[in-house]
Amino acid sequence: MAASMLRQARFGREVRSAMAASSDETPAATSLRAHLRSATMTAHDLLDHAMQAASGWQTRADYARFLAVQHAARVPIEQWLAAHAPAGHAPPPVQTTLIAQDLALLDTPLPPASAPFAPGPHAARGWIGAAWVLAGSALGNRAIARQVARIGGGAWPVRFLADDAMIAYWQSLRTTIEEPAPSGEAEAATTAAQAVFAHFLAAVPRPQGSNPESESIVA
Ligand code: HEM
Repeated sequence: MAASMLRQARFGREVRSAMAASSDETPAATSLRAHLRSATMTAHDLLDHAMQAASGWQTRADYARFLAVQHAARVPIEQWLAAHAPAGHAPPPVQTTLIAQDLALLDTPLPPASAPFAPGPHAARGWIGAAWVLAGSALGNRAIARQVARIGGGAWPVRFLADDAMIAYWQSLRTTIEEPAPSGEAEAATTAAQAVFAHFLAAVPRPQGSNPESESIVA
């Protein structure tokens, strides 16, 4: 692993543990959020490492690749969330248009979409689990945006990483996910959240010689 990747991996872990230690971000032990975080912790770490190995954001070209993976992975998930949001519940705000704007500013063409996201009817009942993954990823994005601003000297576009609309959605979602959920609902939400992480992981290009079959995302 290159020194820059080691630095980035350490950065991700350090920020995550610092934020987990903050009382503002630490949910009650029985909340849906706590349940989802613990059920997907391994998947998140795998994804974090896979994305940093595949692209990272140490150079302009790395950053463009990082955004391309984000775009490819998110298009089908945004479509699924829009189709499955229950009446009276807004899906997370669309971010792929922001990623497309960032990619255009980096003179990078849009990538092909990833495979369809079709996690089945059980996951559809747990729609909020998938919404939590996209909204929660804005917490990591905020930390990555600070790194990108520093490394790129403020010249790289961060419409996606610094998206205030997703942070506002995240705040509104917290009132629901920081309450305990009945066990059937928590299970369906977990299925949906794990499916989103698996979809992202499948969208990340693998370095030659690695074996995705050996990776398990179940915490
Ligand atoms: C690319 C590398 C990534 C890094 C460095 C990273 C980093 C972080 C950090 C610093 C946090 C906040 C601390 C915490 O609450 O644990 C976080 C939370 C989270 N991230 Fe990531 N992340 C990455 C990728 C992703 C991706 C691609 C997704 C999914 C689309 C994702 C989903 C989440 C979720 C769901 C949370 C937790 C929300 C909660 O606290 O309830 N992350 N990430």
